[in-house]
Amino acid sequence: MEYSQCWLNYKSVKNYQDAGLLEYIYGIKSSDSRDNRLVDNAVKELSSALRTMLGIDIKVEISDCPSGNKPDRGIILDIGGEAAEGLHEEGYRLRQEGELLYVNARSGKGILYSAFDIIRKVASKEPLRGIDRVEQPYNNLRMLNHWDNMNGDIERGYSGKSFFFRDEEVLVNSRTLDYARLLASVGINGAVINNVNVRGAASRLVTDRYLDKLREIADIFEGYGIKLYLSANFAAPIELGGLATADPLDREVADWWKACVKNIYDHIPDFGGFLIKADSEGRPGPFTYNRTHADGANLLARALKPYGGLLIWRCFVYNCQQDWRDYKTDRARAAYDNFIGLDGLFDDNVILQIKNGPVDFQVREPVSPLFGGLKNTNMILEVQAAQEYTGQQKDVCYLVPMWKEILDFETYACKEYGKVADIVSGRAYGQVNCGMAAVSNTGNDYNWTGHDLAAANFYGFGRLSWEPGLTSEQIAAEWIRQTFPESEQIFKVVKDILMGSLQTYEKYTVPLGIGWMVNPSHHYGPNVDGYEYDRWGTYHRADRNGLGVDRTRKGTGYTTQYNEPNASMYDNIETCPEELLLFFHYIRYDYMLKSGKTLMQHIYDTHFEGVEEVEGMLKAWEGLKDLLPEDVYDRVLKRFNMQLNNAVEWRDRINTYFYRKSGIDDEKHRRIYY
Ligand code: GCU
Repeated sequence: MEYSQCWLNYKSVKNYQDAGLLEYIYGIKSSDSRDNRLVDNAVKELSSALRTMLGIDIKVEISDCPSGNKPDRGIILDIGGEAAEGLHEEGYRLRQEGELLYVNARSGKGILYSAFDIIRKVASKEPLRGIDRVEQPYNNLRMLNHWDNMNGDIERGYSGKSFFFRDEEVLVNSRTLDYARLLASVGINGAVINNVNVRGAASRLVTDRYLDKLREIADIFEGYGIKLYLSANFAAPIELGGLATADPLDREVADWWKACVKNIYDHIPDFGGFLIKADSEGRPGPFTYNRTHADGANLLARALKPYGGLLIWRCFVYNCQQDWRDYKTDRARAAYDNFIGLDGLFDDNVILQIKNGPVDFQVREPVSPLFGGLKNTNMILEVQAAQEYTGQQKDVCYLVPMWKEILDFETYACKEYGKVADIVSGRAYGQVNCGMAAVSNTGNDYNWTGHDLAAANFYGFGRLSWEPGLTSEQIAAEWIRQTFPESEQIFKVVKDILMGSLQTYEKYTVPLGIGWMVNPSHHYGPNVDGYEYDRWGTYHRADRNGLGVDRTRKGTGYTTQYNEPNASMYDNIETCPEELLLFFHYIRYDYMLKSGKTLMQHIYDTHFEGVEEVEGMLKAWEGLKDLLPEDVYDRVLKRFNMQLNNAVEWRDRINTYFYRKSGIDDEKHRRIYY
């Protein structure tokens, strides 16, 4: 095979007790051809999955009109019937009665999602008898963002080249279809396929040069309930239209965007909309014209509005530069400072996309205070499945537990619905255009994600955005059962590796929320002072007495961006969660932590433990040699060896750096040297 199908590599499932319910599929064609395509794809997937998993050749009868012969066994697919009333447009109800399994939905999308649910249940050997469940997405928008460039490179990509672009051309091939299947199987319903940094040929994606080809992608996506979105260049009216300005309040600029968007919808009627990164890291934006983010976003939103399109505006859009002698400016404050005053000024089809933390996808950050701050604005939570700062898909790092913590964070923004999950799903303030997005970790590698185990993040993001109530263990378990051959030993080892991996990574890298300390530019491996004198405000401020950034009221004032009691909790060194201590406070090396260890001893111990844990994972993996397909075993083993080297380097560099700075010996007298 040219490439793996990830968790859709169906495998034999022995002795599945409810196989008898799955031998027939009956349904009636809908009057909507889009629904019929979705149902066709659902049936195709079920047929091929059940053939491989259970050895059954399903008999399919999807007729044009009711035949009168009510079947007495099998799956009954029904769109728009009474049982679907009140359901979400993408939701479904699964109900077993006698020898029948009813699937009721309001659209073909619900039927498609139910098919993947049935497949998941069979792979996990969950019973279908006795089932009566309604499943509906918690978030309306469940999206992937690709940072793919048109030359085929992927910004922060760790799994090969782009499967959307090569040599400034758009690719449409079997990967496009399999990608759509993978997305639909976990409930993802939107994909932005090009990098947020829109340059060169990518600016032209919105023009006739590329639209026919993009339509082919959009067509495939539509059959799987996915909308195609593009990142666009705010300066396009100048670069493509030859106008003198891209000022959002200029009439000609507005007309240019209107014509551009109309042309897109003429080609791609199901187009989702734009994602914009403006006024950030050298990208153009409304600031050039002394206009606000709201002016910029509304300009594009108004062009998209007549077609139902969405305008997603990223909040990572500031150029917060400083020098290290300045203790008052704080990059962590910037997103909030830029956007909080604009709450309520965005049109209803504008969505602000906010990174999970205030800085930049570090292994540990507090939740962005914009969640809980903004109240009259649609929001999307942006996380990074691509492991830029969490091991770059060489080190294993299962991120679902991190995302769960973020979603479960209580912002105290409102009484009943104060959690981040409630805010980004739109429940807190009754919004519709809300949800979650992940920077994708995929590429054209054989296994899609570089590290085979990184596919758990791809899978997990989708499942979590559909249902944030799932636990990290549940998601890991589902993924393992669908990905690996049936074996309790594989299951246990892989699950333990995944569940411990984030904590292990955190132990051997940066302590207690301080972040950075990575090699500049590519961001893999340790370099304690790599960003310490940089202009981007990425400081740890270590000196001979201690380290950490004072972000309290007395320091940069960042803590005041949170609602109470969070503001006071972070402000007070006694109540600040220890895992974030150095993010919020400057701490002496001899400060006693709750564990009874000094900060310095904590740094030494966690770094030694981190390496030991990687050794443990490597050993556990080696124990699976005879149970796993050889290629999977070898690929992952190679990565564990790289991870071990990385962990050792981190341990030795960090420990040595702080040993020399502090002059404090390790109580356990281990070798501290790099
Ligand atoms: C990070 C990342 C960049 C990316 C940026 C963004 O800074 O290193 O490559 O462009 O985030 O989110 O826009």
